[in-house]
Amino acid sequence: MLNRTYTDMLQEKDVIFEIFHYALSRIREIGAENVFDFSLGNPSVSPPPQVAEAIKDELSERPPLALHGYSPSFGLPEARAAVAEHLNRRYGCHYGPQHIFMTAGAASALAHALRALASPGQEIVTCAPCFSEYRPYTAGAGLSLKIVPASVEDFQIDFAGLEQAIGENTAAVLVNSPNNPSGAVYSTATVKRLAQLLRYKSDELGRPLYLISDEPYRDIVFQDVDSPYIANLYEDTVTCYSYSKSLSLPGERIGYLAVNPACRDAEKIVEICPQISRTIGHNGAASLFQRVVARTGEATAELSVYEKNKDILCRALKEFGYSFVEPGGSFYMFPRSPEADAFAFCLKARQHELMLVPGDIFACPGHFRIAYCVPTERVEKALPAFRALAADYGMI
Ligand SMILES: Cc1ncc(COP(=O)(O)O)c(C=O)c1O
Repeated sequence: MLNRTYTDMLQEKDVIFEIFHYALSRIREIGAENVFDFSLGNPSVSPPPQVAEAIKDELSERPPLALHGYSPSFGLPEARAAVAEHLNRRYGCHYGPQHIFMTAGAASALAHALRALASPGQEIVTCAPCFSEYRPYTAGAGLSLKIVPASVEDFQIDFAGLEQAIGENTAAVLVNSPNNPSGAVYSTATVKRLAQLLRYKSDELGRPLYLISDEPYRDIVFQDVDSPYIANLYEDTVTCYSYSKSLSLPGERIGYLAVNPACRDAEKIVEICPQISRTIGHNGAASLFQRVVARTGEATAELSVYEKNKDILCRALKEFGYSFVEPGGSFYMFPRSPEADAFAFCLKARQHELMLVPGDIFACPGHFRIAYCVPTERVEKALPAFRALAADYGMI
């Protein structure tokens, strides 16, 4: 008999992929130039040339057996050292290689963090709007997920709600800034207040209340936006990073978990990660791409395109009467739906060949997500469709 947990998951509709597949079917019918697909968070800019150069150098300099051999479970020493140096240089931290665990992207970093910091039956608290995959990630670790309703006026944190949500059974708080789906970036004031609350709650509980900071969009922050390195403001922080968006390498599955050296049990947390890997079949991050990210150092893809897209959309959507919080980073925005039912709104958007995602799947009904990680010409070409949709609602 097959495992019911997973066969039941087949019945749950994956809303984003349903929209994406609908977009593909429309592309076949009316041509790609007439469909405006803002459903998926796939990077739209190429990886920087340093990636191809690093791959070529690795292929030419290292014997194949050494190049493609197993990585140590913790990650290759040069990759761990490069990550620690990068974080120290950029954010003034004090990581050593022993605080870094290389992973298959942020998803795998989160899988390790959740299992290291919480035991089955415990609870993780996060804030809406939040990445839809947090549900299966926590459920797969035997944890429950409590979601604090969104602070919709700015998409920072509803502190009264968060304080109320944290209880005896809470192991960790999970945050994501820059945020998917809102594009909000937690300010220094927000993170300081969060740290204060977590310290107070840790004292009350008599144990550390860990902070898991999910940061795949850390390098996509727009001009003049206050974006603190979260671990610098709260000691018991485990940071989950991915090169999927910053280097445009989502298919290569490469990222890391970084445990703040000041975190309680820091080295033990890293030490148990390979044991967690054994239980989830992780067996080390890809050797070649660990070497690539060690070599590419500070390089990123041409991320400024996302800010350009954001500016174009914000200007136009404001003119068309949409209401939204201007994003500070990532490549998403999350306007208010002109009708309470965001599913109905997104279906109506399809009539204009606009593929948008209802906020309900991010635990924030009444909003919709635009993933503007598409070429700038596509954003520009889509504006008349956003205008026509606004006209349907009498907004212009
Ligand atoms: C908020 C958030 N966390 C984690 C992930 C997973 O990242 P990765 O694909 O690098 O594992 C994503 C991917 O889109 C994301 O948006």
